[in-house]
Amino acid sequence: MVKICCIGAGYVGGPTMAVIALKCPSVEVVVVDISVPRINAWNSDHLPIYEPGLDEVVQQCRGRNLFFSTNVEKHVSEADIIFVSVNTPTKTRGLGAGKAADLTYWESAARMIADVAKSDKIVVEKSTVPVKTAEAIEKILTHNSKGINYQILSNPEFLAEGTAIQDLLNPDRVLIGGRETPDGQKAIKALKDVYAQWVPEERIITTNLWSAELSKLAANAFLAQRISSVNAMSALCEATGADVSEVSYAIGKDSRIGPKFLNASVGFGGSCFQKDILNLVYICECNGLSEVACYWKQVIKVNDYQKSRFVNRVVSSMFNTVSGKKIAIFGFAFKKDTGDTRETPAIDVCKGLLGDKASLSIYDPQVTEDQIQRDLSMGKFDWDHPIHLQPVSPTSIKQVSVVWDPYQAARDAHGLCILTEWDEFKRLDYEKIYESMRKPAFVFDGRNVVDAEKLRELGFIVYSIGKPLDPWLKDMPALA
Ligand code: NAD
Ligand code: UDX
Repeated sequence: MVKICCIGAGYVGGPTMAVIALKCPSVEVVVVDISVPRINAWNSDHLPIYEPGLDEVVQQCRGRNLFFSTNVEKHVSEADIIFVSVNTPTKTRGLGAGKAADLTYWESAARMIADVAKSDKIVVEKSTVPVKTAEAIEKILTHNSKGINYQILSNPEFLAEGTAIQDLLNPDRVLIGGRETPDGQKAIKALKDVYAQWVPEERIITTNLWSAELSKLAANAFLAQRISSVNAMSALCEATGADVSEVSYAIGKDSRIGPKFLNASVGFGGSCFQKDILNLVYICECNGLSEVACYWKQVIKVNDYQKSRFVNRVVSSMFNTVSGKKIAIFGFAFKKDTGDTRETPAIDVCKGLLGDKASLSIYDPQVTEDQIQRDLSMGKFDWDHPIHLQPVSPTSIKQVSVVWDPYQAARDAHGLCILTEWDEFKRLDYEKIYESMRKPAFVFDGRNVVDAEKLRELGFIVYSIGKPLDPWLKDMPALA
């Protein structure tokens, strides 16, 4: 029986290993983590992450050929294939701070593998890492090898949160990079055999190590670039009277452009895009490619601009002040169908409004008060360190209340900001919401989920990203 161990029971390690266990009943899969609460949650009825379809897969496999454990050394030493799916945050200090990937967690995992291994291992980079990380890992392992043979593979993960199980069951492609030596090719084949249990062979791409590592950063940069491109267009649409949805539809019909990832928004969030582009920028700078670095940096700058543009629009529409005004926030997660708040645009928007002394009432169907308070108190890039190391929520921010009912959030509010595209926000009783709000009542739709015309008929003043402006807003030009 092939034994797989995955170090890191997070958003990637957990779902990916669950699907491998589901599709490969003859493989034993153990997911290990240094976080005791996280492992306890994986072994309970309340999994540590919300992901549609995940509960069912875990229930089917857990205790059969899928296990979650904190006994990291034991399971690493017994495994044939070790996936490393630990976090690779942006460095907060030292060389490359604010851009470079922090490989502390990866290096400590590699050193632990070297310490406990007693037989040959295939070590798989599942985390997103800078190009050439495999070389560094190889050096750590071989210099501490005690005669053991290690093969390093790069097998980056392309799943998106909220659709992780579908993405894993039916991936566009699986990418495996390895050494071009006979041993390297043998290791690639061993991993390919695992995926081939359910992924059609033509979708399993094999490359050299550096292409696989770089492809992951490149894919995220290209995806984020599309969003920044359409968001840049959304600003121009508002200035000219064009409608960004119509523009997206029209350009997406060109088969060379394609329709996906062209939804204008308050900005992209999530644990990957910003971190990975900053990492790419740093690698370009280190290679003397300053123009290339600037090109990709601009994707982040436009994203930051989009978030501050939104805040400015809210403030300028409401007579240039939100001081002391209650504003309802609908949605805090970085996208629908996840409880994940890492780098969510809601953090910057809420901080912007709080900076103008607004009082916020926040509702998200999956995010707890503790998490929101923590997010709004934490420094930039501090969030991506293991959950057990994150500071316990400091004293909560007084102007922020978190409620479990959208109607309660909106009651007596002057304005309402929609920051996540949860489906339920389309179905709310906006007449009831309008009646309960202060007048004039504003809706700022950062995800273009509501029918603006219908809401205007109810009496709302509505701002939708990249759409022709409400007559009211035309008279109140945005500050940005
Ligand atoms: P995560 O923070 O949810 O999980 C990482 C886990 O690793 C944590 O539970 C942490 O406790 C554990 N860990 C850290 N050091 C450890 C060690 N030495 N031994 C054992 N456990 C350790 O992170 P994630 O979202 O799962 O991301 C993991 C990697 O995958 C990152 O490199 C990320 O860029 C990449 N990735 C993420 C996504 C995504 O959608 N989240 C998608 C593709 C790739
Ligand atoms: C992303 C990549 O899609 C995935 O392949 C990679 O493995 C990890 O990073 P994820 O961050 O989970 O996945 O979600 P994604 O669907 O890409 O959304 C990222 C952000 O972009 C979200 O905030 C989302 O709301 C935003 N977005 C997405 C837009 O604003 N407009 C779009 O058209 C699409």
